[in-house]
Amino acid sequence: MRGRPRGRAGLRAPVRILAIETSCDETACAVVEDGKAVLSDVVASQVKAHGVYGGVVPEIASRMHIETITQVAEKAVRDAGIGYGDLDAVAVTNGPGLVGALLVGISAAKGMSLALGIPLIGVNHVVAHIYANQIDDPAFGPPFICLVASGGHSHVFRADAGGKVSVMGRTRDDAAGEVFDKVARALGLGYPGGPAIDAVAGDGSGAIALPRANLGDSFDYSFSGVKTAALNVIGSHAREGALGPATVRGVCSGLRMSIVDALAANLFRAASMTGIRNVAIAGGVAANRLLRETVAARAASESMAAYIPPPRLCTDNAAMVAAAAYHRYASGESDGLDLDAEPELSL
Ligand code: KG4
Ligand code: ZN
Repeated sequence: MRGRPRGRAGLRAPVRILAIETSCDETACAVVEDGKAVLSDVVASQVKAHGVYGGVVPEIASRMHIETITQVAEKAVRDAGIGYGDLDAVAVTNGPGLVGALLVGISAAKGMSLALGIPLIGVNHVVAHIYANQIDDPAFGPPFICLVASGGHSHVFRADAGGKVSVMGRTRDDAAGEVFDKVARALGLGYPGGPAIDAVAGDGSGAIALPRANLGDSFDYSFSGVKTAALNVIGSHAREGALGPATVRGVCSGLRMSIVDALAANLFRAASMTGIRNVAIAGGVAANRLLRETVAARAASESMAAYIPPPRLCTDNAAMVAAAAYHRYASGESDGLDLDAEPELSL
């Protein structure tokens, strides 16, 4: 395998990267070729274990990652139809995320890098979410404005033609996914809350009007107000013994509408202010049906290109980590065995 032919940039062709993602509650491994062809994509979800508690329990997450990481990696290599010896690099999310959970993936990646004699490449989880778009459509690239909305983040990124990436806006309090999860918990809809609220909201009819923060010209978000308003509606109806299906549906529809309105508004305002005509969405909340429809319709009406990855690439996965790592690999970058977990890693 050392004698495999080299491509134009001096890279062996094709470049196969095994990526590991353990930043939260999914143990995921994937093998991706040349940053875009997904040979395998394995996700072992811990949702059932955490669902009992209504949210992710960090200690349980770490323990379950330890229990499953080896099998998940082996399955990813097997599903890809290759052997460990055919890998060119091993990539791993090293932040942001839960420190104990990140450490499991990082330790596994270091072991593989050392044993196989291949480079180790650390990847920022939020950047990886953006790269999900490139897997879905290899034409995706700067310039673009990308919304990343997940359980831990709600960011508006700007990427310029030269590759420079900057943050235009971020949430000042709760992340969008966090609010879906907390309100779903109060409604007894289980964890994770986003998909449940999306399903109950259905076509959005019967929405109970909930507020949307107005932060003026800023591209920031604030979701704590709508969260409190939703929890107040739930609390008052529950006290009166009137938390029936219509109210539950109305809260779900109203909450989804308020959050999606805010997410889409800043994305398109950022695009029109910068003159950038490509808009993209990423992160678990990008699996939301109303957000997808809203972004697609608005981009079409303004003749912009919209990049909307399939839901499987929006929620946590390792294929996106491999796609992001490919660019570091192609630039000759890698990390040493001192690569550490960085729970608060920023861009
Ligand atoms: O990206 P992700 O899988 O993990 C993090 O990096 O946080 O995002 C998980 C978040 C959860 O808060 C979940 O409720 C939310 O994404 N989510 C959704 C939907 N599917 C997942 N939120 C709204 N609508 C959905 N369909
Ligand atoms: Zn994520």
